[in-house]
Amino acid sequence: MTAADAVTAFSLRQVQQIRGDDVHTLRDVDLDIPRGEVVALVGPSGAGKTSLIRLLNRLDSPASGSITYDGSLIETIPVRELRRRVAFVFQAPAMFPGTVAENLAVARDLARAAPNAGAIKIPEPDEALHLAGVDPAFASRDAQSLSGGERQRVSIARALMTGPETLLLDEPTSALDPDVADHIIATVRMLAASMQLTVVMVTHRLEEARAVSTRTVFMEAARVIEAGPTETMFTAPTNERARNFLLRGK
Ligand SMILES: Nc1ncnc2c1ncn2[C@@H]1O[C@H](COP(=O)(O)OP(=O)(O)OP(=O)(O)O)[C@@H](O)[C@H]1O
Ligand SMILES: [Mg+2]
Repeated sequence: MTAADAVTAFSLRQVQQIRGDDVHTLRDVDLDIPRGEVVALVGPSGAGKTSLIRLLNRLDSPASGSITYDGSLIETIPVRELRRRVAFVFQAPAMFPGTVAENLAVARDLARAAPNAGAIKIPEPDEALHLAGVDPAFASRDAQSLSGGERQRVSIARALMTGPETLLLDEPTSALDPDVADHIIATVRMLAASMQLTVVMVTHRLEEARAVSTRTVFMEAARVIEAGPTETMFTAPTNERARNFLLRGK
């Protein structure tokens, strides 16, 4: 392992993805995601953001190229272990039938079944709810009856139940009212800082990307066009397309 690997969560090299009838969803993607950073993935609709983030816990596989996590090729990490360490929060998360507590228990059982379970710090359900900003009294609520914002918070709490190192979020706030969305974003930022999580978040709200992230990745037409520190990306990106999109919103 080199010094660079020691601080890199994900490293993608020459990643290509082709879906359906010869649709190139990702082309020549080279990207490093350092550990402990909050990375915003932005770009126009159809750019390949969801396609990219889904590769990171093997919901899909690339056609070619390599992806490492923590220095290991991700296909060499047992998929259950990878998904315990790298948790995914969806745009419109599905709740399992049952209570909020039962939803959290499913995730906890998954973590406890992991080969190195003893070494993992698994939070108590109350603690996970608290971290995600949910009143612990919600534990007994029917998970199907939650509002969109509550559901999103519970899905974050559920993701925390496996003691993850990395959180992947695909447009976690796009179905929510702006003020509810702001609270979710504040929670993500707080979690990243207090638990030293690596976060990769797709968002189409640029002000949200700027507020939450330490690094920004701009994608367009299946390619990573430019990536760098968020402040630089939003003030002086090198690429003209990145400048138009990030500074002028087009
Ligand atoms: N299963 C599939 N088969 C064929 N084409 C697909 C498939 N999934 C996605 N695509 C295409 O790949 C491209 C990238 O899609 P992707 O969902 O990654 O974009 P995105 O950046 O997440 O967009 P949005 O902001 O709208 O969510 C799009 O042109 C999409 O139509
Ligand atoms: Mg998408």
